[in-house]
Amino acid sequence: MIEKVKHLKDQIKAFTASSQHEIEEFRLRFISKKGELTDLFTELKNIPAEEKKKYGQLLNELKNTARDKFQRLVDQVDDTGKSPRNDIPDITLPPSAEEIGSVHPITSTRNKIVSIFEKIGFNISEGPEIEDDWHNFTALNFPPNHPAREMQDTFFIEKEPDIALRTHTSSVQVRIMERQQPPIRTLSPGRVFRNEAISARAHCVFHQVEGLYVDKHVSFVDLKQTIYHFVKEMFGKDTKIRFRPSYFPFTEPSAEVDISCNICKGKGCNICKHSGWVEIAGSGMVDPNVLKNCNIDPEEFTGFAFGMGIERITMLKYQISDLRLFTENDLRFLKQFRHTGF
Ligand code: DAH
Repeated sequence: MIEKVKHLKDQIKAFTASSQHEIEEFRLRFISKKGELTDLFTELKNIPAEEKKKYGQLLNELKNTARDKFQRLVDQVDDTGKSPRNDIPDITLPPSAEEIGSVHPITSTRNKIVSIFEKIGFNISEGPEIEDDWHNFTALNFPPNHPAREMQDTFFIEKEPDIALRTHTSSVQVRIMERQQPPIRTLSPGRVFRNEAISARAHCVFHQVEGLYVDKHVSFVDLKQTIYHFVKEMFGKDTKIRFRPSYFPFTEPSAEVDISCNICKGKGCNICKHSGWVEIAGSGMVDPNVLKNCNIDPEEFTGFAFGMGIERITMLKYQISDLRLFTENDLRFLKQFRHTGF
């Protein structure tokens, strides 16, 4: 018996704990009713009567030693900062970094485009996403049977043949010119809709930004210089630009704007279809008919307009090859734009 008491005492003394878990282990082994000390108390009944008192005293001393030790372990773990009670937070610990979100790449590009044009005197305007035929097509000089009006392109509102989701932000041009006489220098970013199957290169909902400048003596040179300025600011000063003759009902003459492919630096790759050039915008001089439709005198005023896809610009800027990534909300994709700054 004496041996057992001594052995237990050594074990109690030698016990160390550095966590709640270990303190609990000590309590179970030496203090709880099912612990080793209780076992020894049970053995007392087998001890001859004359020795009972002596052993009783020894065991009581051991019990106190175990209790003191237990209290010390609790205090000690407390001091090391590991709270013995899990429900009390330690307010002295440094905070864990909060997960913060990031600006969506489309928003970031939109903001960048806006800031470039704001600096050269454009204001920002917006128009409705649900449009009527006049603002989306007719006022923009679309002939009655122009293919862009057809069902496969436009989302019409059922039973309302005159109402549709706008297919481009050019509709905002009309709204601005109808209510304001020149000088007009405005940029209209917004969402547009087309009845297209979703793929890596096409989506039924996307974003455009429309530019419009109407005043006395506005010429194609002003258009070229403005686009030139934008491209250098957006893609860097080494980017090359070319204007390709094109056709839009609402501009005459019209041109598409290409920039040198910033992915292969003009050498030829999949994105530019090995031509070294990628298209970024449509543009031209506002057709006199459009000015007339908006009660602006084409004899007195001229203007230029341009329109570009924000997704397209973003894909080129960040070398993204699949349009669907913008709407999937995959955090692994979105987190990469944390540091784009806009
Ligand atoms: N609205 C045209 C489109 O969605 C883009 C465009 C081309 C806008 C020429 C313009 C422009 O203002 O002048 O494809």
